[in-house]
Amino acid sequence: MKRYISVIILSLFAVSALYSQSRKKDYSLQVDSVLSLMTLEEKIGQMNQYSNDRQNTGPVINNQDHLREIREGRVGSMLNVTSVTRANQYQDEAMKSRLRIPLLFGLDVIHGMKTIFPIPLGEAASFDLELMRKTAEIAAEEASAHGVHWTFAPNVDVSRDARWGRVMETSGEDTWYGKQVAKVRVEGFQGNGYENRNRILACAKHFAAYGAAVAGKDYAEVDISENTLHQVYLPPFKAALDAGVATFMHSFNEINGIPAAAHKYLQRDLLKDTWGFGGFVVSDWGSVGDLAKHGYAKDIKESALLSALAGCDMDMCSESYIKNLEQLIKEGLLDVALIDDAVRRILTKKFELGLFDDPYCFNRREHELDDKNINGKYRDIAREMGAKSIVLLKNEAALPIANSVKNIAVVGPLNKSQWDMLGNWSALGKPEYVITVLDGLKKALPKANISYHEGYNFRNNELLEMPDLKNYDLIIVAVGEKSMESGEAKSKVDININKNHQQLVKNLKENSDCPVVALVMGGRPLVFKDMEPYADAILITWWLGVEAGNSIADVLTGKYNPSGKLPVTYPQHSGQCPIYYNTKRTGRPWRPKAQWVTGYMDATVLPAYAFGYGLSYTQFEISEPTIDKNAYDMDSKISVKVTVKNTGKYKGCETVQLYLQDVAGSITRPVIELCGFRRVDLEPNETKEIEFILTSGDLGFFNAKNEFVTEPGDFKIFVGNSSDNLKSTQFELIKK
Ligand code: BGC
Repeated sequence: MKRYISVIILSLFAVSALYSQSRKKDYSLQVDSVLSLMTLEEKIGQMNQYSNDRQNTGPVINNQDHLREIREGRVGSMLNVTSVTRANQYQDEAMKSRLRIPLLFGLDVIHGMKTIFPIPLGEAASFDLELMRKTAEIAAEEASAHGVHWTFAPNVDVSRDARWGRVMETSGEDTWYGKQVAKVRVEGFQGNGYENRNRILACAKHFAAYGAAVAGKDYAEVDISENTLHQVYLPPFKAALDAGVATFMHSFNEINGIPAAAHKYLQRDLLKDTWGFGGFVVSDWGSVGDLAKHGYAKDIKESALLSALAGCDMDMCSESYIKNLEQLIKEGLLDVALIDDAVRRILTKKFELGLFDDPYCFNRREHELDDKNINGKYRDIAREMGAKSIVLLKNEAALPIANSVKNIAVVGPLNKSQWDMLGNWSALGKPEYVITVLDGLKKALPKANISYHEGYNFRNNELLEMPDLKNYDLIIVAVGEKSMESGEAKSKVDININKNHQQLVKNLKENSDCPVVALVMGGRPLVFKDMEPYADAILITWWLGVEAGNSIADVLTGKYNPSGKLPVTYPQHSGQCPIYYNTKRTGRPWRPKAQWVTGYMDATVLPAYAFGYGLSYTQFEISEPTIDKNAYDMDSKISVKVTVKNTGKYKGCETVQLYLQDVAGSITRPVIELCGFRRVDLEPNETKEIEFILTSGDLGFFNAKNEFVTEPGDFKIFVGNSSDNLKSTQFELIKK
């Protein structure tokens, strides 16, 4: 016994010596030496994650004694711990455990920690990748100052169905664009490392195809072809991995009969073996335990077995691992090598973060937590991102607000709401930080006479009486969703804006003699055909975060000329969902007024607003694209040139979009697919030539065997300012 104790003491000494060198790149020695000291129960403990019981983001399991379990080495990570004080409390308990292995703290830092930025879908509309990287960096800086090591972001789910509530967390419907956004968000959160304690681990979620839930119902089954999985849903995950993402989270849904939580092909074979992912996979909240509810496992013991075999390294909140893995190993159903592999992956991240050197290293920046400090520091970025996220859909000479406008009516409670501007998943954002639309406008237009009117009851949407509107020069009305109407478990069958909101816009127009500007707020594409003719201008303003009011005022006054583009298609009817621009072609493509073509009897197939659409206060002319050859071989660089001219009277920014069509392939290819874009700033009358370079890799796709290939043949290239406003050229790709 004595000998045994001295071996432990010696080993612990050796380990702590190794801990101090822990910021080297390769931690395998240190990790292995910790692992060699661990009991099986301690190893399984590392694979167990609980939520701070004061703050939950899913169904709670009662009667857990977290502090005791942490002391016993039965917990590797906590989520939803948002204060340094609470983090310290938990970490203190971990330091009382036998091996003093530090806890990892995770949180959903989705669009900011305290300085809340536009919802991710809104940011995606900016098409400003560098600014998206910046907001992720700031989120990481603020989160890490609160003791958070790890964000459950970015959400890289491709979302083609506006009925699904989590569209708001994503970058929209396009796979190629989703890849670009995934990359910058991962890089923004993680930086080049965690040495400065101001970057955090990122997590690509939800692996995989969560956005393809049947009928847009959150958590529902996904039934898609393997080819669609590879072609549409997986590439943003691969892009996150290539950008070095530290962790993955699997999804709640099943895919073609196999729940993602137990999907061995996805987690172990593809992600870890084929793609070579070295980080760890966390489950979604309770998703391991849910396997029995799916009807895939008979009880939580079998759930734990199937999930561990499939490659899920950490169980979030279901207790399946901590209660069953040891027994499963004893029964010979699970190999301890799989446990060791999972624990190695988790410990490596803890070493990389420097937690073995100093378990409290992220908890020492309290001086940065002062509300005024954090609240003030990054507002400019939030304001800029807010303005760039806004998409102008319609403008019949109503905007920008003219100097002659003196009397403005601001109508609708969303204009006064601070809470709703934060949007869903707003971490530590506080309503009191938010600049409302009303305040933003008053500040921007100090000489105008701005009055506020409720318009409708915020609780039940009933219309309220309005005063005489004849004396106003401009009416600004906000309609759409409250912040808790989009997000997890917020699917809808009807994505129409509430009929009273739309009626209000009509009433305002009919009872006034001035332009009516509608601000459409929400977290998903919404339908608003009924009000559309009565609004002189329509802007999609999402939920823009702490600077919402200033960003909106900047755009309304023309201080910022709107430049946002829709990252999702806006349908004309809920029944068109799922609707997305890059559909397949069909043998009977739609043509206006034609019979025997794809479409609907009772409505058009056309969207209300297409992917990539968005107006400016100025006008741009985009030339035909030119290429220098008619044929290229596989090694060529294909240069596509185009000129853009600002023909209007305001300085502005146009997002020039590049699409391609593979004319005929060994499997069918979409009508068009985005393969490039460029934001171009132009003064009035200024012209710029821009060049896109494509390689044969950009023309590839997953074939019937799901291998990525580029096939020779004809290609069309399209350039324009929206997916439905394009000019084209074409070339042949030849085998060398
Ligand atoms: C969500 C995840 C989230 C997790 C932790 C789940 O319900 O699906 O996206 O990261 O909760 O809050």
